[in-house]
Amino acid sequence: MTGGCNGIGKAICEAFAASGAQVVCADVDEKAATLLRPGIAFRRIDVSVDVECSQIVEETVSEFGGLDVLVNNAAIQPPSSYVRVEDTRSEDYHRMLAVNLSGYFFMAKFALKAMRQQQSGVVINIASGQAHRTTRGVPIYGPIKAANVLQAMQWGIEYAREGVRVVSVSPGAIDTPLVRASLDAQGGESELANRHPLGRIGKPEEIAHAVLWLSSSAASFITATDLSVDGGLQAFGAFADPFPRIIV
Ligand SMILES: NC(=O)c1ccc[n+]([C@@H]2O[C@H](COP(=O)([O-])OP(=O)(O)OC[C@H]3O[C@@H](n4cnc5c(N)ncnc54)[C@H](O)[C@@H]3O)[C@@H](O)[C@H]2O)c1
Repeated sequence: MTGGCNGIGKAICEAFAASGAQVVCADVDEKAATLLRPGIAFRRIDVSVDVECSQIVEETVSEFGGLDVLVNNAAIQPPSSYVRVEDTRSEDYHRMLAVNLSGYFFMAKFALKAMRQQQSGVVINIASGQAHRTTRGVPIYGPIKAANVLQAMQWGIEYAREGVRVVSVSPGAIDTPLVRASLDAQGGESELANRHPLGRIGKPEEIAHAVLWLSSSAASFITATDLSVDGGLQAFGAFADPFPRIIV
């Protein structure tokens, strides 16, 4: 599990642990790791470094005797990246590519090898509604999220005959500390909530439940595809204007 110390990743770690799984949380945030519930193992890795991805997969397989599920979740979206293409800072571009795209790739590269050898396993890429529709100010984040969906499809097809499934999950807006801080700064969540037909943003646990189900044998015929967990956001036009206030 990458990026499991905060937000959605933390909820996924906790859901797997509650289901009885042995969970390794791979994250850079050593401070937040101290707040993980007992029983979740923490390893400090930076997913943008391929050697560290290789090492954690190797250590996990050797310590636990295999690897059943990889959840690629660690991603960044620095405030300075919310600009137009022409105003994008090179360091944001390269860092987001390294973490959000290469990080997913290298974790999968080593996990898929281990899963092919054991002839079983599931890889889940956490993508975003921004993989499917777009909006202003996300010239790096959005296209990389689209690539995370296509990674899952391509890997899913490639490993389908070897007992390994690969899927992506596309959340709508989820109530994580980062989103909460931005909403509070903008005076509450009502507008963003309204963009979701269910009339609210999601909870991290709602993504975790979907991930847990997708990784289980109950989802054994699901591979090389994407699941939106977004309160209807995409069906509604994703980033379209909010619901009209006057309905006739
Ligand atoms: N929150 C939302 O509304 C939302 C919506 C759609 C998609 N997503 C996606 O869900 C995932 C989780 O988002 P979140 O809101 O929980 O984010 P978050 O910022 O709360 O958590 C991300 C975690 O990744 C870790 N991380 C960052 N860089 C890392 C690196 N180089 N190596 C290892 N770990 C690293 C961070 O320390 C943190 O624990 C991301 O892929 C994000 O794009 C989030």
